[in-house]
Amino acid sequence: MADTTLMDKLVSLCKRRGFVFQSSEIYGGLGSVWDYGPLGVALKRNVKDRWWSAMVQARDDIEGLDAAILMHPRVWEASGHVSGFTDPLVDCRQCKNRFRADDPRIKGTPGQPDAQCPVCGTRGSLTEPRMFNLMFRTFMGPVEDSASVVYLRPETAQGIYVNYLNVLQSSRQRIPFGIAQIGKAFRNEITPGNFIFRTREFEQMEMQFFVEPGTDGEWFERWREWRMEWHRALGLNPAKLQWHQHSGSELAHYAKAAFDVQYEFPFGWQEIEGIHNRGDFDLGRHQEYSGKKLEYFDQGQNRRYLPYIVETSAGADRVTLTLLVDAYREEQVEGETRVVLGLHPAVAPIKAGVFPLVKKDGMPELATTLYHELRKQIACFYDDSGAIGRRYRRMDEAGTPFGITVDGETLSQRTVTVRHRDSMQQERVALDQVAGYIKEKVSGER
Ligand code: GAP
Repeated sequence: MADTTLMDKLVSLCKRRGFVFQSSEIYGGLGSVWDYGPLGVALKRNVKDRWWSAMVQARDDIEGLDAAILMHPRVWEASGHVSGFTDPLVDCRQCKNRFRADDPRIKGTPGQPDAQCPVCGTRGSLTEPRMFNLMFRTFMGPVEDSASVVYLRPETAQGIYVNYLNVLQSSRQRIPFGIAQIGKAFRNEITPGNFIFRTREFEQMEMQFFVEPGTDGEWFERWREWRMEWHRALGLNPAKLQWHQHSGSELAHYAKAAFDVQYEFPFGWQEIEGIHNRGDFDLGRHQEYSGKKLEYFDQGQNRRYLPYIVETSAGADRVTLTLLVDAYREEQVEGETRVVLGLHPAVAPIKAGVFPLVKKDGMPELATTLYHELRKQIACFYDDSGAIGRRYRRMDEAGTPFGITVDGETLSQRTVTVRHRDSMQQERVALDQVAGYIKEKVSGER
């Protein structure tokens, strides 16, 4: 399958089956903003739940936080986003299109007569690069003037830094400890695209780990290992995961060292999570701009210091896309194409389909009772329409790992057929044990 076709097929499956829709579609859509449908919201929620469970629930040294999207505008001056979160842009005076100055399609130097617009082909029509800030701005209160400007946060991290002392004191944690948060972030990206890979509104899953200076290198390495392990445990093809180390020019203004977890998408190796050693940049800047002391007093050593920060920053939408890309496959079965999303059972939006083989002989009643019992414990779906093979195929496309069919033997033997999505093999399981059987299979270590 050619790679562009894979993305096209995935986008179409996502719409058809209710994973992802274009935002405001009936109005022609809004550029690079997407809505999650019934299956998509369940898949993304499972990603976020697994992250929360691994980062907060399973650890004594990490606390959760949910900070507001709107923050004091000085936060973004301190963070460097007002002055530094910019991309150089050029406009074509002829066709009015706008490009990043480093767009590889541009021939020549923007602003010079030799530069050629990559869309209309006109020479000399491209302007000199101008810096464009990626933060969305809005106004707080009734007056729309420069004094009332606030920003939609471009990352969740800053909400953690400004709350670090609140969390430290209220939770009685000691360094080393971390704060984790999942939430929306907004960037007015100039070159968004590749479906939900780079969007203007997205969700981040970020954790900031506060450590004693000098121990940051060890913690950085530990977090690298743990985070890669987390991605592998999602069931992703390990051959498609790799590290990418940021070299000097790639390093963000705040980072001492940075590695990306990359996945091999149909459009190339791309970042899904960044691990950064941020040193004392963030707390140092917030201390300077707010005038509030943000030092930690280490009782054991009887000394004060500004903690260093190791950050892990993943995109919930990007991980969701990774799961979908990794899971999509087509197979030829009995002369027909079977489309399967081979999602790990722990993240699959629906864990089991429940089907009466036929709509008679008490099978629908038994299947409905089983369905009502099962859905108290796991996400499942009842379907009694069409041939059983069609119903299985519909569940294959939704990534549902198990199909449970109530048939003739259920009535006589009190057993059901459990059909496995990937192998398509079937086995018989006792009716009164099937809930426990499926639950055990879908729970998975976090
Ligand atoms: N606090 C550090 C930070 O925000 P980043 O590398 O800019 O670092 C971290 O972003 C992660 O957030 C990325 O690895 C990606 O998964 C996700 N992300 C960033 N921009 C995104 C966008 N426009 N659309 C979707 N996800 C995005």
